[in-house]
Amino acid sequence: MKIVVIGTGHIGGTLGQRWRAAGHEVAYGSRTASGTGPGGAPVLPVGEELTGAEVVLLAVPGGAVADVVAAHGAALAGKVVIDAVNRIGEPAVNSHTAITAAAPQCHYVRAFNTLGWENFADPPPDAVMFFAADPGARPAAEELITAVGLEPLFAGDADASTTIDAFLPCGSRWSGTTAGTAGSHCASRDSRPGDRTHLREDQPAEHNLTAANAEG
Ligand SMILES: NC(=O)c1ccc[n+]([C@@H]2O[C@H](COP(=O)([O-])OP(=O)(O)OC[C@H]3O[C@@H](n4cnc5c(N)ncnc54)[C@H](OP(=O)(O)O)[C@@H]3O)[C@@H](O)[C@H]2O)c1
Repeated sequence: MKIVVIGTGHIGGTLGQRWRAAGHEVAYGSRTASGTGPGGAPVLPVGEELTGAEVVLLAVPGGAVADVVAAHGAALAGKVVIDAVNRIGEPAVNSHTAITAAAPQCHYVRAFNTLGWENFADPPPDAVMFFAADPGARPAAEELITAVGLEPLFAGDADASTTIDAFLPCGSRWSGTTAGTAGSHCASRDSRPGDRTHLREDQPAEHNLTAANAEG
């Protein structure tokens, strides 16, 4: 697949690298960088790389999403748009409303937002990822989750995005762990949204929700 990753940070860089290694054609969209990005994929100004892309990953801070999709909404039409952004502290953690308002013809996916980036760089054995997707986007989402070494578990269409976000208190605290220790915290097939069994007992859920690496 031809994939554009907007944001060259922890999430964008890690997933771009993994997808390129899996044989996908990756390009990064960046405000500042140029040349080559993580894994050797080209880095272009946001927007220039969108032509011909099948999939776009949004991996920018929550406060940047509105501007990015407003500027490039037309170019997202018909594409699979994966929303990995967490808008911590806002009424909706995901950007489904903003993305589909700017790009009503896109195919929305909510995924890659509930696990720390370390889990994508070096996935623990048997780890799973719950995701939500419009019907037209489900095959691509499953392929790209599988490509990073996680088992995709479909939670429903885009309306199930809030269900995916209910895993965030679990995933947030995984950020900052090493890949080696993250495995013991990853969701399993028995996990359920809002499941608190993976939370640190000495920390309230609010602490986990505001863990630094998952903040937008
Ligand atoms: N870190 C995690 O483990 C994790 C896990 C799940 C979800 N998330 C979510 O993923 C998103 C990215 O997190 P991250 O950890 O990858 O952050 P990060 O390392 O800070 O990277 C964010 C990237 O977004 C781009 N960016 C920054 N400000 C921007 C702006 N105003 N407009 C457009 N692009 C901007 C930058 O790339 P350029 O300078 O190249 O433009 C930057 O490298 C956040 O919404 C976060 O909540 C993070």
